Amino acid sequence: MKENPQLNPIGVIHSPYNTIEECHPYSQSREQTFRLEVFPEFAPALQSVETCTHILVLYWMHHARRDLLTQGYRWDNKPHGTFALRSPHRPNPIALSTCELVLREGRFLTVQGLDCIEGTPLLDIKPCFATHDGSPDARVGWWEKRTGKCPQ
Ligand SMILES: C[S@@+](CC[C@H](N)C(=O)[O-])C[C@H]1O[C@@H](n2cnc3c(N)ncnc32)[C@H](O)[C@@H]1O
Repeated sequence: MKENPQLNPIGVIHSPYNTIEECHPYSQSREQTFRLEVFPEFAPALQSVETCTHILVLYWMHHARRDLLTQGYRWDNKPHGTFALRSPHRPNPIALSTCELVLREGRFLTVQGLDCIEGTPLLDIKPCFATHDGSPDARVGWWEKRTGKCPQ
């Protein structure tokens, strides 16, 4: 029998934002720095991470709602399915960001490219490979339609 997922945070994210209201989405907070604190028991898992220029950071949106299967953005009232959105509100509120690794100091990583509040639980860190982790042909139809970039 397969096991159900069991998530245990590996650390905590220290953010310049204390409230969700002041927390800018990634596109607007690119220049802000965040500090990832990895708990001591997971520190050995950081070996060689300082050789990575970019990392994928997975975190748990601990103030998110978990009951929304469709939702509209505040700037777009038309509802879309949660799985077509990057909203923090989802059945399993796991967030993902590609971050620039600025500095490693022991079990603390300074990064740019996050969009979460102080105290957000850190779930995982992975190296970002330019060859695997970008999809230059990726498109989001509903977004293109809204912004007028959709050819259809
Ligand atoms: C749109 S989500 C995107 C998250 C991630 N970049 C992704 O794409 O999976 C980011 C927003 O979630 C909200 N947020 C930040 N920290 C949160 C937390 N700990 N719990 C719930 N919502 C949070 C803020 O409004 C922030 O701008």
